[in-house]
Amino acid sequence: MSTSSAPSAQRAIGTVAIRWHGSSLELLDQRLLPAEEHWITLEGASGVAQCISDMVVRGAPAIGISAAYGVALAARHAGGGDWQAEIRQAIRELAASRPTAVNLFWALQIMEAEFHGCHSLDEAVKRLAAKAVQIHREDLAANLAMADHALEFIAAETPFSVLTHCNTGALATGGYGTALGVIRRLHEQKLLNRVYADETRPWLQGSRLTAWELARDGIPVTLNADGAAAAILARGDVKWVVVGADRITANGDVANKIGTYSLAVLARHHRVGFMVVAPSSTVDMSLATGEDIPIEEREGSEVRQIRGVPIAPEGVQVFNPVFDVTPASLIDAIVTERGVVHNPNITGMRALFG
Ligand code: MRU
Repeated sequence: MSTSSAPSAQRAIGTVAIRWHGSSLELLDQRLLPAEEHWITLEGASGVAQCISDMVVRGAPAIGISAAYGVALAARHAGGGDWQAEIRQAIRELAASRPTAVNLFWALQIMEAEFHGCHSLDEAVKRLAAKAVQIHREDLAANLAMADHALEFIAAETPFSVLTHCNTGALATGGYGTALGVIRRLHEQKLLNRVYADETRPWLQGSRLTAWELARDGIPVTLNADGAAAAILARGDVKWVVVGADRITANGDVANKIGTYSLAVLARHHRVGFMVVAPSSTVDMSLATGEDIPIEEREGSEVRQIRGVPIAPEGVQVFNPVFDVTPASLIDAIVTERGVVHNPNITGMRALFG
């Protein structure tokens, strides 16, 4: 495999947000979408770590992929002195960039193992780049496989609508998307009436990214305020709420974007299916339950302001956890590339993930 060719946009996999050039990484700045398509070029791991913290790149799989490229860049640009210490430092820095999505730590562990097998800087440069490209490619393949699995058990004959939260599309992954991948596939199979996209306060991943991504790809989307979800589900057209995940624990609890838990409660009340779609890199069997997941809290300014414009009294106290945990008991199916865990619990999770 060439180390300079990452997945391309040749297939209908959605908008590419991560471009690898061998000695540099380009990230589409997701903070500026949909107003502006601006790419940031990075040549070192510190810049990649900063981009993850600042949400230039976001979405669990995309964070893991970017971090892997960050390690590859650390090797590529190592000074030649204590190159091993430089790479180790880069891994530490990347690991500190965001706490909740386990894909970050999963990818760094793979990169670290690869690095331990290298006996020279030259070898590290080649092997780490190849490994990062492999992580990127495999994420895209996992997304395509998950869409296959979901379509098998949904087994619908007539089109229906779905509701989704946050952004789980090509922008958040190596391409195609997790929950949005399933939605793409429903659309390809002419089984989709419409996607309701929660705007996803406070960072607005739903309105700024999901609505943009779907509209761009010609998939019928209706944007709604998060608070409208109950009214939408009450109308009866939505058959599935489909979301992604940042970490899934051994009992099937799921951490995902804040507001996911309330959607699961609403779905159960309205007898609408609740499906989580995530690659196995999001599964953390080392944690027993969702209570063990570190939940990131971000700056209050993300709630008090929109693009720097105040929408709340200056200095008002804010609670801004950016993920919540949906208990397994509210989830109908967890779809991964290894297969589907229906009505997740520890037994079902162990059967697929050991
Ligand atoms: O804060 P973000 O935008 O990184 O949060 C993203 C989500 O919560 C997604 O639903 C999750 O990472 C899955 S992306 C395929």
